[in-house]
Amino acid sequence: MAKTVLVTGGCGFIGVNFVRLLLESREDWQVVNIDKLTYAGNLQSLQDVAHHPRYHFVRGDICDGVLVEELFSRFTIDTVVHFAAESHVDRSITGPAAFIQTNILGTFTLLEAARKQWLSEGRENRHCRFLHVSTDEVYGSLGDAGFFTEQTCYDPRSPYSASKASSDHLVRAYFHTYGLPILITNCSNNYGPYQFPEKLIPLILNNALQGKELPVYGDGGNIRDWLYVRDHCEAIVKVVEQGRVGEAYNIGGHNEKKNLEVVELLCDMLDAKVGMLQSGKPRKSLVTFVRDRPGHDRRYAIDAGKIAEELGWTPKFTFETGMDKTVDWYLDNRTWLESVMDGSYRQYYEKMYGR
Ligand code: NAD
Ligand code: DAU
Repeated sequence: MAKTVLVTGGCGFIGVNFVRLLLESREDWQVVNIDKLTYAGNLQSLQDVAHHPRYHFVRGDICDGVLVEELFSRFTIDTVVHFAAESHVDRSITGPAAFIQTNILGTFTLLEAARKQWLSEGRENRHCRFLHVSTDEVYGSLGDAGFFTEQTCYDPRSPYSASKASSDHLVRAYFHTYGLPILITNCSNNYGPYQFPEKLIPLILNNALQGKELPVYGDGGNIRDWLYVRDHCEAIVKVVEQGRVGEAYNIGGHNEKKNLEVVELLCDMLDAKVGMLQSGKPRKSLVTFVRDRPGHDRRYAIDAGKIAEELGWTPKFTFETGMDKTVDWYLDNRTWLESVMDGSYRQYYEKMYGR
């Protein structure tokens, strides 16, 4: 069915992969991407589709209510897929204010615009959907056993996860109070192309390629449940098309790994693909245990049974196939990585839009 989708944060890691998936696979969907282009937004990542007839980019802040409402009416938006956020836990510890602003107030601004546009008298809103992309971090930290289900109580521990939990509550409140047709997805750790090299996998890849130290927090025993980004994007499309309004869906890959395992696997893969370090040593020799992240959640693991049973979604990539594609992508796109590391990716849009 034809849709006009407002994708927020479409120049970030998952947003870029999502916009690409929609342009490739949904021929009757128009895509409007609003992105503020913070440090995490990279316009170059979508340079090749910038003039696609079904794609429109707007540089803007989701906290700007006038702009957001204007976009809803200018493009007759019937679907929102809301990615825009401050997303990095470490940054939320050193500077939480931006997380409160974008993740909570930005979500509120979008909800208000959708409520005004979709729920005013006489409007047809049967097919409208507001999908809020959230995280498994809202559930807190697991012990050695068990999984997060959609019934797990919220227990966020970082300013990042607290801001996402807050936005989830707001989204749900708009369903119960106003009948806004919302959906929520809570996903585990993503990896894949175009991820900003502050997150574990691209940071380790970049450092290991350059022969720099590989910082592992604490004892390296914290566990994350890894999902290849394309699988996450396909799950989101399923939820938009077939999800039950008002429901939340957990998304995960059943790929629980200790951080140290992930780092060592990346080292082995790079040694095999590009050879050992100049010193002749394996890249594992660069592993350096550093001070732990404050409030570091020990283990995340998703029970993705609901989305599998109700919507028939299961991941297509195993950890091995996903990691192989990811490492190859970073090796084939070293100029992308270099332009992010040296900051020159920002010059591309500063020329067009200013700072
Ligand atoms: P990212 O940090 O790579 O990208 C965020 C994007 O949002 C950037 O393009 C940035 O410019 C934009 N943005 C930030 N503030 C904005 C504002 N005020 N107005 C408009 N645009 C703004 O993030 P990501 O890793 O792609 O994550 C996307 C979403 O998915 C987030 O909501 C995050 O909480 C959620 N999520 C991420 C993961 C993961 O592993 N990365 C897992 C589960 C859920
Ligand atoms: O679970 C979903 C979440 O996954 C998303 O909601 C977040 O947006 C996303 O950033 C991610 O959060 P994490 O904190 O789990 O991701 P990060 O890549 O920062 O860290 C992964 C693990 O690796 C975590 O246990 C901390 C550890 N780590 C991270 C970095 C950057 C290290 O040991 N060394 C590092 O240098």
